[in-house]
Amino acid sequence: MLIKKSNEIPSSEITPKSAYLNRRTFMTGAAALGAVGLGVDRVAGMIEPQDEVEAAATKLQTVKSPLSTSGLELTSYKDITTYNNFYEFGVEKGDPAANAGHLKVRPWTVTVDGLVKQKKTVGIDELLSFRPIEERVYRHRCVEAWSMVIPWAGYSLSELINWAEPLPKAKYVQFLSLKDSSVMPGLQQIDLGWPYSEGLRMDEAMHPLTLLTFGLYGEVLPNQDGAPVRLVVPWKYGFKSAKSIVKIHFTSDQPRTAWNEMAPREYGFYSNVNPNVDHPRWSQKSERRIGASIFSQRQPTLMFNGYGDQVASLYNGMDLKKNF
Ligand code: MTE
Repeated sequence: MLIKKSNEIPSSEITPKSAYLNRRTFMTGAAALGAVGLGVDRVAGMIEPQDEVEAAATKLQTVKSPLSTSGLELTSYKDITTYNNFYEFGVEKGDPAANAGHLKVRPWTVTVDGLVKQKKTVGIDELLSFRPIEERVYRHRCVEAWSMVIPWAGYSLSELINWAEPLPKAKYVQFLSLKDSSVMPGLQQIDLGWPYSEGLRMDEAMHPLTLLTFGLYGEVLPNQDGAPVRLVVPWKYGFKSAKSIVKIHFTSDQPRTAWNEMAPREYGFYSNVNPNVDHPRWSQKSERRIGASIFSQRQPTLMFNGYGDQVASLYNGMDLKKNF
C-alpha cells in the first residue's frame, strides 16, 4: 500500500488563476458527459490516489489550505472508498461501493430554505465555482471507534451560508440528503426516518473548519463517499457529516437528526468527539485507524478529534457529558 504523508504535499501546487477560472467550464463539460470522469482529460490535483486503485473520477483544481492537518499518514484511497457508512445503499461497509454506482450526480441541485431572506436553488456546478476548492486533510472519526485521515476537497460551509442570507432568527442548520428509492436499496433495509437528516448550531456551521465537500484525493467524490456534495465536520463523529445533500434548511429550533431520533441515548445532537464520554455500548477512549500497520492501528482518541484549539470555545460553559 502506498501511503503519502500530508506534509509531503508539494507547496508549489497552488492553482493558477486561469485554471481556476476555467474550472466551471471544465466541470460543466464533465457533467455534459453524463457520467463524471469518463474520458475527461485530467487537470492538476494535489494528492494522488494510490497507484494500484484505478480511480475512475474527475480531478478537481485545488489550492492548499492553512486549515489542513499536517504530519499524519493518509488513509489509502482504496480504504476511504470501500469502507463506508451510507445506509441508503446498504448497512454493510462494502455496500455503498457496491451499490452506489447508479446514483446520478448530474443534474443536481441544492436548495436553501426555511429562515432565509429568500428560498434559492443552486446547481452543483455553480456551487463548485463559488470559491476556490481547498485541499484539507482532516482526521475522520466514526462513532463506531474507527478512524481515517482523509484529504478532502471543498470550501468552508460559511461561504454557502453567507450566500443563503439566513435571517437573524435562524439558529440552526439542517442538512437533508437525497432520498431516491429507485437507486437506494438501503431505504428498505433500515428506517432512519429518510431522508437522512443532520444538523448543526449556526456557530458550528459557520466555523471555518466545517467543510462543504466536493472531493477527496483531489478528485470528485466517489458516489459512496457522498457525491456530489457532502458535509465534513472534523471535530464531530462522522455521522454529523451528511452525504449527497439536496437541501439546507435554516431553523430557529434544534432540527431533528436521523441517528438522534433513532437512538437518542446513544447519539446526541452535538456528537463532539470526546474520549471522556463513552457510547453506552463501547468505549470512545481509543480508535482503530483503518489501514494502519498493526503497530499504529490503535490510537488514543483526542478531545474534539484534535481540533480543540479551534473549536473548544464554541462550547464554553456547556456540560459536554450532558450535551454529548
Ligand atoms: N449520510 C447519509 N446520507 N447517509 C448515511 O448513512 N452515514 C454517516 C455519514 N453521513 C451517512 C451519512 C456516518 S454514520 C458516517 S461515519 C459517515 O457518513 C461516513 O462517511 P464515509 O463513508 O465517507 O467514511
